[in-house]
Amino acid sequence: DKVVLAYSGGLDTSVILKWLEIEHNLDVIAVCIDVGQEENFISVKNKALATGASKVYIIDVKEEFVSDYIFPTLKAGAVYEDKYLLGTSFARPLISKKLVEIAEKEGAVAIAHGATGKGNDQVRFEATIKALNPYLKIIAPWRQWNLKSREDCIDYAKKHNIPIPVTKEKIYSRDQNLWHISHEGGNLEDPWNEHDKDIYMMTVNPEDAPDKPTYIEIKFEKGIPVSIDGIKYSPANMIYKLNEIGGSNGIGIIDIVENRLVGMKSRGVYETPGGTILYEAHKTLEKLVLDRAVLSFKKMVSEKYAQLVYDGLWFTHLKNSLDKFVDNTQEVVSGTVKMKLYKGSCKSVATKSPNSLYNEAFVTFGEDDVYNQKDAEGFINLFTLPLTINAIMKKEKNEK
Ligand code: ARG
Ligand code: SIN
Repeated sequence: DKVVLAYSGGLDTSVILKWLEIEHNLDVIAVCIDVGQEENFISVKNKALATGASKVYIIDVKEEFVSDYIFPTLKAGAVYEDKYLLGTSFARPLISKKLVEIAEKEGAVAIAHGATGKGNDQVRFEATIKALNPYLKIIAPWRQWNLKSREDCIDYAKKHNIPIPVTKEKIYSRDQNLWHISHEGGNLEDPWNEHDKDIYMMTVNPEDAPDKPTYIEIKFEKGIPVSIDGIKYSPANMIYKLNEIGGSNGIGIIDIVENRLVGMKSRGVYETPGGTILYEAHKTLEKLVLDRAVLSFKKMVSEKYAQLVYDGLWFTHLKNSLDKFVDNTQEVVSGTVKMKLYKGSCKSVATKSPNSLYNEAFVTFGEDDVYNQKDAEGFINLFTLPLTINAIMKKEKNEK
């Protein structure tokens, strides 16, 4: 029988590849999905073949990742626990979708992944597989075998002649794509340790960023960024360009203790340079074009949306329904935002939109003829009627 393995080329998934062959007697199809992680995919392919894969797929999904996963989440304004921009979370459903497609095409009976039994990723992979093809079996070796550590994996690799990646000692558990990189484990596991600045891979240390601010103008159409300083970019290139600009200004580093879906807290450092700029710009534009009722309702939707994405519930009826609401709100989210980037800080400094609801004639402190200040008196009388009645009743009671 055939199994499709989510393969990265690292030690863990290399060991899994061999283990599936030996312990399960399966024909392994290694699949490496290119979501923008910095990787030499030719050597990944060769490594998979050298380790015993019968076939290898390397699939570039970068544009799809941005258009169909990142942009919808950006439009929703979804942020997990006020900080995390969901970079790993929304990559999992896309990766799983591709694994299912290949499994179906190849007639595989199962999909295997290298996520541990303690994390969120296992849930995300498996929720998507179940949503898209409930008949595929799932193999999660970390929950089954008796290899307990990296050392065990290295021993297993040596014993079975698996090419071991010649990397220096692995300190952090990292996950990278074109939106972000996450760092967990190592000395981050003690939340009293300030994180080492040399972990950064997509950004410079804000303290070392240029002493002069960078200004950029981002144009949005219906909630989606389309150009920077008048130059159009494809979705993926938009993120790459903003990563470059944001990274060099030290933008988008967060350090958080978060609640995992499986119950425990974990500490992580995330770098999301371009994403941080986009979220800030998008939020500013929404404030100009959405009315108060939509803005406040959308805030609840953002919160729920973030939770669904974090929990791996991408392919669900609720998530699709929230997308419909969000898309309706985004009809008017077109315009341009000017951003100022300086040593890790990312601020919007100016906005304009053809759909702006802001009207100087209404808000001015000077003389105007659109707003009759006398009307406010009646408004306040009715608006405050409940509390006025309350106060009257209380006073009357006390006087009795
Ligand atoms: N804690 C983050 C999340 O759950 C990042 C997970 C990183 N995953 C990894 N395999 N290193 O989305
Ligand atoms: C893992 O456990 O595989 C990584 C961390 C996570 O999924 O939360």
